[in-house]
Amino acid sequence: MSSTSPSESVSSATSNAAGRTLPPLLRKNVTSLPLLGHALALKQKPVQLLHEGRRQFGEVFALNLAGQMTAVLSGPKANEAFFRAPDDQFSAKEAYQMMVPVFGKGVVYDSPPAVMDEQLGFVFPALKDSRLRTYCTYFHEECERYFQSWGSEGTADIYTTTNELTVFIASRCLLGRDFRNNLSARFAKLYHDLQGGINLIAFFAPQLPLPAFRRRDKARAEIVRLCSQITAERRRTGVVEEDFIQTLMSARYKHDDRPLTDDEITGLILALLFGGQHTSAVMSAWAVIELLQHPYLLPPLLEEQQTVMGGKSSLAMDNIRSMVRLERLLNETERTHPPLIMVMRKALRDFTFDKYVIPKGWVAMVSPAVSHMIPEAWQNPERFDPGRFAPPREEHKKTNYALIGFGGGKHRCIGMAFAYLQVRAIMSYLLRHFELELVSREPRPDYSGFVIGPIQPCLVRYRRRKAQAQVVPADRTAAAATQTQTPSAL
Ligand code: HEM
Repeated sequence: MSSTSPSESVSSATSNAAGRTLPPLLRKNVTSLPLLGHALALKQKPVQLLHEGRRQFGEVFALNLAGQMTAVLSGPKANEAFFRAPDDQFSAKEAYQMMVPVFGKGVVYDSPPAVMDEQLGFVFPALKDSRLRTYCTYFHEECERYFQSWGSEGTADIYTTTNELTVFIASRCLLGRDFRNNLSARFAKLYHDLQGGINLIAFFAPQLPLPAFRRRDKARAEIVRLCSQITAERRRTGVVEEDFIQTLMSARYKHDDRPLTDDEITGLILALLFGGQHTSAVMSAWAVIELLQHPYLLPPLLEEQQTVMGGKSSLAMDNIRSMVRLERLLNETERTHPPLIMVMRKALRDFTFDKYVIPKGWVAMVSPAVSHMIPEAWQNPERFDPGRFAPPREEHKKTNYALIGFGGGKHRCIGMAFAYLQVRAIMSYLLRHFELELVSREPRPDYSGFVIGPIQPCLVRYRRRKAQAQVVPADRTAAAATQTQTPSAL
């Protein structure tokens, strides 16, 4: 089938010669405006819109996003087809062009797929087990440092907390101790300006002369300057650190043995920062919120902390890895609150799935938020129930591509192990050192950004535990636990 323009596709949603049809366009029960199509509805209530599409049409349907025809796929079979499509058919690079001004020219989504693969491959040595072990000591140090400011009791916004803490952790792991100690405040401001350049307008026209885009470009130039200072200093002194920038400084392109330029190093550091910081902050915040909304989960988690950490003050990777109950809490958090609710590709050639064809020029999308809620793969999907990940249920092992919070296929998240360790370290610290209580009632998701955190304020009240090793549930907690309905094994 030849390439199809958006308007042709909308008007002629019928069969092609091979007897395949275009995905059906969502029309009933949803807002679709002239020119904008479903763009506004997707921005305001994305999950509701996508669920409605699946309810009406099943695994594949179409949206019109201001003229950009978009096929939405959901469910394990369709997810698998999406993630297994090769780059020359479903292109991540073309779908994420709005990130090019942030990551930079010639880096990641601005390079041919083979170069992007090689560049992301440069990061792997920084993610091997021996390195993760070192980062776990950084997680511990950063938690100690951050939570000192909390005092013995008070109220805090949990999302602000996890956001700030993960920025400190990211600057420490990516850019090193000196940078973390001396430049974190300056860096947080620049990072904020970069984030301000990622919005819906950037999706369509990332180079418009808007103030937000000018701030973005200025911030990036300044971050390149700061990264260059680090690389120059390390080359001058010969100091070698265990962080990502060090790994990238020693990488070489295969074909000409060329080292990365400072601009490329900065671009990759920014790709890791954007891939990993906000997403981890969101996951940590939701995990705390869900835990406090389901108090029956607390006693088994505290018991696990006691078993694994009793008597120990610092947190090592092996300890974190043996916190399997905490891991299940995070699995369920990933399922019910995936930080990225849409994963996109641009179709560079026709793609067929089942009886449908997604034509060249369309965007294709899968949604973790929709796929994680389908009853074919998950029992009582609406219920927050970490026990579904425990033996003997292990629902996630029954269907491939049912849990896709970290994507799938060749573009699957490279930072998943890092993220799971980091979030568990933060949760473990909170569990062992504080009694927490949710102040804000039922925080809802905030769909205004690309990473879906809770609407703020989402306040928690905290009281520092007296003896750190004593993490057995307080009477108050135990009483709350018995008042809630049917806990399943965690
Ligand atoms: C809770 C935390 C995280 C979540 C939910 C998450 C989610 C995802 C998802 C869904 C993708 C697939 C995107 C796609 O297919 O288009 C992805 C890719 C990626 N993630 Fe993560 N991520 C997290 C943490 C991290 C961390 C900590 C890092 C870095 C240390 C990272 C680096 C990346 C990179 C570089 C990619 C692109 C891989 C590729 O295209 O080949 N992520 N992530």
